[in-house]
Amino acid sequence: MSFPIKLAFILSATVLLLTSGVNLANICEPDYLDWTVVEPFLTSKCVICHDDDWAAGGVNMAHPETYTAGDEPLVRLYDADSSPLYTVCVDVPEVSLRGADHTLMLTAEELTLLREWIDTGGYFIGY
Ligand code: HEC
Repeated sequence: MSFPIKLAFILSATVLLLTSGVNLANICEPDYLDWTVVEPFLTSKCVICHDDDWAAGGVNMAHPETYTAGDEPLVRLYDADSSPLYTVCVDVPEVSLRGADHTLMLTAEELTLLREWIDTGGYFIGY
């Protein structure tokens, strides 16, 4: 091979390597949010009332492994819009008797994380 051809070869190989490197990075990036992302704010903002002792409204959030249990689970995997754990935080209650307005508890960013955590099915990963 002559030098210019070698150079062209090396250059194109480098470009190929670099672009495939970027693609690899995308593939390796997890496409779900795991428990460690939502744990800090769920624990500090929700479990205080929904703990073993009080379990406000009959809801106990102290044990994440139970969120999906029962006929009316708190979390329906991959479906935040039908998961009470999420909807209670975004739907303004129709009846004003509710003790705690849950729509004021989480920041917009936390709501997005909560939604993504349920919708991407990263549920038990990291727990
Ligand atoms: C200040 C105490 C308090 C905090 C903090 C709190 N809750 Fe509640 N939660 C209640 C009470 C009381 C009820 C039952 C009465 C009602 O529906 O408001 C309830 C009810 C619920 C219900 C059942 C709703 C329904 O429609 O049946 C869910 C789900 C829930 N909370 C999730 C959460 C989540 C998620 C958080 C954190 C963002 C949270 N709660 C923080 C007091 C609290």
